Amino acid sequence: MTAELAAETYAACGAEPPPDCRICPRLVEFREENRAAHPNWFNHAVPSFGPDDARLLIVGLAPGLKGANRTGFPFMGDFAGDLLYSTLLKFGLATGRHAPETPQALRLVDCMITNAVRCVPPANKPTPKEISACRPFLVERIASLPKLIAILALGRIAHDSTLRAFGLKLKDYPFGHGASHALPGGLHFFDSYHCSRYNTNTGVLTEEMFESVFASIRETLRGS
Ligand code: URA
Repeated sequence: MTAELAAETYAACGAEPPPDCRICPRLVEFREENRAAHPNWFNHAVPSFGPDDARLLIVGLAPGLKGANRTGFPFMGDFAGDLLYSTLLKFGLATGRHAPETPQALRLVDCMITNAVRCVPPANKPTPKEISACRPFLVERIASLPKLIAILALGRIAHDSTLRAFGLKLKDYPFGHGASHALPGGLHFFDSYHCSRYNTNTGVLTEEMFESVFASIRETLRGS
């Protein structure tokens, strides 16, 4: 079975890959190495997190090795999750406590978080083939949210994969921090630089810049 055919077959099952998804050989091998080294970690395809009636879908890149791949929740335990979850709490898109060791202490409100690639990639870098192979799950994820109004892409890979999920041309929707685009069907598509440690440590993304994107999203959700 080709990777493309396998992806279609799995995607027919829904918006989430099976926990032991075997579409991408490199990611399977990495997962198995991690499972042997850290048997107490999650070490599966990381499912989307949040309620099915969410109006906002946040699309990240891929699980971090010691974060989402360890805890089983996107961005939970990842450095990037500190800024993401504190911002969601501040904007009323989450309640509870952000405590990576007890992910259940936090609930998302009106928003769901997913990743363009669901399995942890070596060095945080999925290949173009892996991103394409995982896209059918993103397509299904988007399609299965009946109240969806807005999508936020964290970083260019999430941006490009989301546009491809809609079959849109990348050149018609240029990526830029704070950019927003109207997608066919009335969806609002927002971009932010990824809230990675690298981007925040180098000042590419500040807390203020990140919050200003969420302020725009909040206005959109309020007006809809
Ligand atoms: N953790 C995730 O789940 N996704 C990212 O994009 C980064 C860290």
